[in-house]
Amino acid sequence: MSARTAGLADRVVSWQQTHGRSGLPWQGIRDPYRVWLSEIMLQQTQVSVVLDYYARFLRRFPDVAALAAAGDDEVMAMWSGLGYYSRARNLHNCARQVVANHGGEFPRTALELATLPGIGRSTAAAIASFCFGERVAILDGNVKRVLTRVLGFEKDLAQAASERELWASAESLLPAPGCAESMPAYTQGLMDLGATLCLPRNPQCLLCPVSDLCTAREQGRPQDYPVKSRKLKRSAQSLWLLHAQSPDGSVWLEKRPATGIWAGLYCLPVFESRAELAAALPQTVRAGLRDDPAFLHVLTHKDLYLHPVGAQLKSSALCKEAGAWFDPVRWPALGLPAPIRKLLSA
Ligand code: ADE
Repeated sequence: MSARTAGLADRVVSWQQTHGRSGLPWQGIRDPYRVWLSEIMLQQTQVSVVLDYYARFLRRFPDVAALAAAGDDEVMAMWSGLGYYSRARNLHNCARQVVANHGGEFPRTALELATLPGIGRSTAAAIASFCFGERVAILDGNVKRVLTRVLGFEKDLAQAASERELWASAESLLPAPGCAESMPAYTQGLMDLGATLCLPRNPQCLLCPVSDLCTAREQGRPQDYPVKSRKLKRSAQSLWLLHAQSPDGSVWLEKRPATGIWAGLYCLPVFESRAELAAALPQTVRAGLRDDPAFLHVLTHKDLYLHPVGAQLKSSALCKEAGAWFDPVRWPALGLPAPIRKLLSA
């Protein structure tokens, strides 16, 4: 963080507490089901419209189990009028996955939340910071406007590298580590600044708590930010990686197909779900699987959430024709995707 933006987090927190939006039914609560529902509804819909739908939806589906158990038609009917119906389909699928794969409890980290249908990186961070005080950055459209202006960030957000850089800046501006209790107000404060003062065309800089730190304001051209040359549609995907090790430290690697992600490179075996990964292993190995921390790998058009799953195997236990055991001394000479190389050397 530069000297210029030191103190930004504190100002955003105090401003939110005195001038931000308050008293909304999804604020001041820590129930991830209710917070998640509000975030999905608020993604493309104004607060005034969401209020009514939110209350009705919760009366009919008071918890994630009730939503998961509902029929498609009824969920769509409760969403009817809110628009962007893929949100409702994702919402329903997400509830089913929470029940089927997470014992009916939402995961408690942004990384894990982002593996669920309809929950992107920023929404996952919003839920984790509101409910669990996790110190993670959000970066939705409104917050991009606030931060590019404050920082005078002039790079083109249509470029993945620029977007990545802005995410890193958003992380560097977070409240100091150990401030779990201020994360909800900080996250909400950035959203509220973007929605009520730092407007696209007529920003209310005179009322803004960080105007004296703001580069765009100093330049006298806040409306020139953010810079985005074209719309770039990004998607997200979760992949599970089998990190099988033999007693001598060798790792099982397979050559990727000639097309698709990491084409032609050597890689840990890749699966679209954890169940698929487990099913590829002998019963005796399945019981000893170890879920290692998931991590994010940003590609040009896609956020990849990678979930390594460790397994200790005798070399004979895996004998698919597509791969082989590789001793660590051979890894440097192999074409490995960067995130896999990082994972193996950790
Ligand atoms: N838009 C997305 N999340 C929001 C929130 N928590 N409050 C207000 N507007 C939002």
